[in-house]
Amino acid sequence: MNWRYLAFEVEPRNLRAAIEGARAMQFAGLNLTVPHKLLALEMVDMLDESAKTWGAVNTIRFEGRGARGGWLPLRVFGVPAAGGKSKSARPTEGGTPIEIRAVGFNTDADAIVAALREDLKIELRGAKVLLLGAGGAGRTAALKLASEKVSELFLVNRTISKVLGVQSEIVKGFPSVYVGQGYPRTEVDFVINATSLGLQAGDPLPWDGKQFSLKQTRAVYDMIYRPAETKLLAAARKAGCKTANGLGMLLYQGAKAFEIWTAQPPPLHVMRRALEQNVYVG
Ligand code: ATR
Repeated sequence: MNWRYLAFEVEPRNLRAAIEGARAMQFAGLNLTVPHKLLALEMVDMLDESAKTWGAVNTIRFEGRGARGGWLPLRVFGVPAAGGKSKSARPTEGGTPIEIRAVGFNTDADAIVAALREDLKIELRGAKVLLLGAGGAGRTAALKLASEKVSELFLVNRTISKVLGVQSEIVKGFPSVYVGQGYPRTEVDFVINATSLGLQAGDPLPWDGKQFSLKQTRAVYDMIYRPAETKLLAAARKAGCKTANGLGMLLYQGAKAFEIWTAQPPPLHVMRRALEQNVYVG
């Protein structure tokens, strides 16, 4: 495909200008990461349901209004390739768009579910889960798991007020899910680490070993993907649990964005290989 995916480092104070610049340059879209995902909510013209539901934007698609009046992804306003030699796959609307709008999406929540299903072969419906962390990633995971009808969700976080906030959102939105604060006494189907503990070599384990044992779970998912094996995952592997790191989440949120921009099925194997080859370099 004659497309480019480039990385730009943008200061939060310049985010609005960066989005406007991409619009002016007729980019097909953008991905945004921390700390831009919340700021961008106010900076796009429209929010897709996914961004409204999860309260964050990690993907923008630029759309143009053409001479015929409707809004279409910018990719369809193709200028035929120079010299006419290249067989561009871009269907053309013809001309330049009269107006361009930025539409915000969120592909993170779906990625959590895809990664758990694909990497750990976990059935979410009816599952019992211990979720560590109630920050941005933890909250999204908790709500998404509740929407997938897990049966019991135990929430643990250093700052209790965040657990209480997420707990009340789930009680309101998904009353059939049992949501408790603190460690479960019984076994769970899987544990997810959504805290940042494990990113640094000296970090302690993200849970209190006196209150919860690895014998109480069959699988452990760590949202951290670098290092590839955190202390938590190493301990879980030694204890015989199924394990996976957060590379799958990175893959699936990117794959969904690819689909949003290109309207083509994402080449998951190619993307996974590229991630594995590049994420762990250096
Ligand atoms: P993200 O968007 O990646 O979730 P975040 O919202 O800053 O980032 O959340 C970071 C998570 O890691 C939180 O659950 C945080 O706990 P607090 O809510 O108490 O801050 C957790 N975390 C970070 N450092 C921690 C530490 N030293 N001990 C325990 N938890 C920690």
